[in-house]
Amino acid sequence: MSKKQATWGGRFNETPDKLAQEFNASLSFDRRLALVDIEGSMVHAAMLAKQNIITTEEGESIRSGLLKIRDEIVSGKFVWKQELEDVHMNIESRLIELVGAVGGKLHTARSRNDQIATDVRLWLRGELSGLLAEIKQLRKVLVSEAHKHLEPAAVLPGYTHLQRAMPVLLSHWFLAYYEMLTRDAGRIEDCLNRLNESPLGAAALTGTGFPIDREMTAKALGFERPMRNSLDAVSSRDFGLEALSAIAIGQINLSRLAEDIILYASSEFGFAVLPDAFSTGSSIMPQKKNADIAELIRGKSGRVLGSFVTLATVVKGLPLTYNKDLQEDKEPLFDAVDTYRMSVKLMAAMLPQLKWNREVMAKAAESGYSLATELADYLAVKGLSFREAHHVVGAIVRDLVSSGRELSTLSLEELKKYHVLFSEEALERTKLQSAIHYRNSLGGTAPERVEQAVAAAKQEVGE
Ligand code: ARG
Repeated sequence: MSKKQATWGGRFNETPDKLAQEFNASLSFDRRLALVDIEGSMVHAAMLAKQNIITTEEGESIRSGLLKIRDEIVSGKFVWKQELEDVHMNIESRLIELVGAVGGKLHTARSRNDQIATDVRLWLRGELSGLLAEIKQLRKVLVSEAHKHLEPAAVLPGYTHLQRAMPVLLSHWFLAYYEMLTRDAGRIEDCLNRLNESPLGAAALTGTGFPIDREMTAKALGFERPMRNSLDAVSSRDFGLEALSAIAIGQINLSRLAEDIILYASSEFGFAVLPDAFSTGSSIMPQKKNADIAELIRGKSGRVLGSFVTLATVVKGLPLTYNKDLQEDKEPLFDAVDTYRMSVKLMAAMLPQLKWNREVMAKAAESGYSLATELADYLAVKGLSFREAHHVVGAIVRDLVSSGRELSTLSLEELKKYHVLFSEEALERTKLQSAIHYRNSLGGTAPERVEQAVAAAKQEVGE
């Protein structure tokens, strides 16, 4: 044996090819797992000592070495070595440097296969809990904005096919996104519950002959239970796929919110004014104020969805159990978690600073025949079949369109020419402020309903 050998050098005659080594290494990104890796190792060492697989003193010196390494990492003094491939080998090698050969006992009854599966679960558990707190914050913002704008006067057109359809309260619009974000949080909670079991002790793939205590390590690491099958424990990444799908759906919902904001802040709509702090200018056009932040939240849904597809593709053809392909699980997870978290935070910071232009919104809400359905509903209430009522009002709209007039300009006499059942009450329903009160079915946009919805949502977020 000549030059410095890799950990598995005993079996090898040649030293690794430089390019192959570089390609194989994951240190540049899995360093991020260092602290959870140490956490897992401390628990594993304590278990080995308790089970008399190593002595109490050996357990103690491993523990003190790991604590020292943790300090070095936290204070930035740890010297990472690319040639040691990954975070696990870096920490083990430093441990042996610090405490001597006994450091090599840490890896008894363990493999990097159960180790990395444990690390990723621990890391993801922490990140998803943090994400839930950020989403909660955004949900609070959505509710408080809904509360702030809870007035019949704060009304905008609701759209279908991006054509003006019917007026809706601005509060109702905020609460629509609140509902989506509530489900997004629920999906992450589900994922957290399912991923919280411990692969540690599955060793390379079959379990081990050492008398380990998996219940103990699972409990000490805050897992619900040890995973029941060792092959599953080292090879499954569906917990990562589940997290990525929940995150991708969350990012897509944010993307839709961003898209509404971009549209509403355009001069074509003019409903909202973006805060300067969340906009950018143009390097050439002095008048420009662009919705870059909202656009990026929308745009980044591409990469987050890409992360899901990356991991799904990595896993789909893999034979049981561990394959090095699984090293490719980390970057998509890291990137998606970071991107989504930033997007949630930015949205929460930006929303309260939007300035809503009520006059423009209301004007848009009552023009474009948005209240035509009200007239049809009126006739239907008076006994016409809805289909007939629809036809009558269709004719009114056709005539108004050809004379270039809005619904609100109709007089009662004119209305009566289309149907005898039309009365003063019908005329009322063509006025925005009275019309909005009619949409009072459960979940509807009538102010009384929205008020109830705001109250319920406030209670849910603990305000
Ligand atoms: N860096 C590896 C990964 O991320 C750790 C596990 C290595 N296991 C192995 N048998 N080579 O998956």
